[in-house]
Amino acid sequence: MAAAATLSSLVIVHKFKVQPPAPAASPWMGRTHRPLLRRPVVDRGAPPISFSHRSAPPLDSLVHQFDPMIPIEEAVTPPSSWYTDSSFHDLELDRVFHRGWQVVGRADQLMSPQDFFTGRLGKVEYVVCRDDDGNVHAFHNVCRHHASLLASGSGSKSCFVCPYHGWTYALNGSLLKATRIKGIRNFDVKDFGLKPLKVATWGPFVLLNLDDDISGDLQVNSETAAHEWIGSCLATLSEVCLNSSLHFLCRREYIIECNWKVFCDNYLDGGYHVPYAHKGLASGLKLDSYLTTLHDKVSLQCCDGGPVDGEYDFDRLGKRATYAFIYPNFMINRYGPWMDTNLVLPLGPRKCCVIFDYFLEGSLLDDHAFIDRSLQDSERVQTEDIVLCEGVQRGLESPAYCSGRYAPTVENAMHHFHCLLHHNLTR
Ligand code: FES
Ligand SMILES: [Fe+2]
Repeated sequence: MAAAATLSSLVIVHKFKVQPPAPAASPWMGRTHRPLLRRPVVDRGAPPISFSHRSAPPLDSLVHQFDPMIPIEEAVTPPSSWYTDSSFHDLELDRVFHRGWQVVGRADQLMSPQDFFTGRLGKVEYVVCRDDDGNVHAFHNVCRHHASLLASGSGSKSCFVCPYHGWTYALNGSLLKATRIKGIRNFDVKDFGLKPLKVATWGPFVLLNLDDDISGDLQVNSETAAHEWIGSCLATLSEVCLNSSLHFLCRREYIIECNWKVFCDNYLDGGYHVPYAHKGLASGLKLDSYLTTLHDKVSLQCCDGGPVDGEYDFDRLGKRATYAFIYPNFMINRYGPWMDTNLVLPLGPRKCCVIFDYFLEGSLLDDHAFIDRSLQDSERVQTEDIVLCEGVQRGLESPAYCSGRYAPTVENAMHHFHCLLHHNLTR
């Protein structure tokens, strides 16, 4: 915390002048990751740091300290303040997480009427449920009386009773009972239903749209929502990554002391860190086959499975592993008989939660030895990544660091992510 307090008072001086916002067209769309023939990298060295105590740059200028128009070979990474500054974090919540479609859960969590689950995304508390007629609804999970959170956790309920003073809401959000309001005037229960949110299911996922504008149908058609969420590569993503016959097996949650983007960056480095930080994982992959492709709001990283021998002789990865990143914070990983998804939730400038959901082919659901070993291996990789991410966060908070560089032939999915984020923050 001491390092963080010091950092906020620093003025970071860049050699690079602030650039104008990117044009609306995304120059990175549809690009395949191959060695690029461009101008040679100009080694500008580390940006100098001033320790004088002038005020921090305004938010606008902070956003534009990353320039998406500079080609990856010459680009510097976003400044460390993107990963540490609380006002920048608030801007991200407003522009990135409180708009558009976001994955919030799984369709199997709403299998039956009266099923519900709750969650928080940024500052938005939500509850999603299936009513007795089978319709899926989503609401702000905030009581209209004095703002108590209404439901908690997940499960099954025939109605939502506020734990504070007992106001009771139906699963369609209408206020059924306002307790002890005798004498109240100018009050109509019809005006005090839960505030609705747009919701959709697509394949195994539940999507919410937290836009303020809730005009139109609140239960949105799956394909419409998926197109708005994923963009032009919906068909590619479905083909490469989704297998709706897989069965949900279990969930693991990790609280990590790092900015949410540190976890995403780590995921998007084209396997760069794998041989150094994940020796076990590296032994099951042919890393020289690694290929990254960029599509609209998605990047795909694919790698062939490697020979299975030596200490790490257990084959959970199969012939090919595919890692799909869906901007801004969702990953779908397909390997062997497995799919796992990673949902990265910002909890503050220096903290995030990552939720892993594991899905498996039905024929293996009784193979407990295979499942246990696979989950252990996955857990080991995740533990190794947590150490890396928390170390990076501490490094980002050090006055010694401002911006870094990209390895152009491997880190273009990360650059793509930063470009999308810049685009998002400037609109
Ligand atoms: S805050 Fe919910 S009933 Fe009072
Ligand atoms: Fe990793």
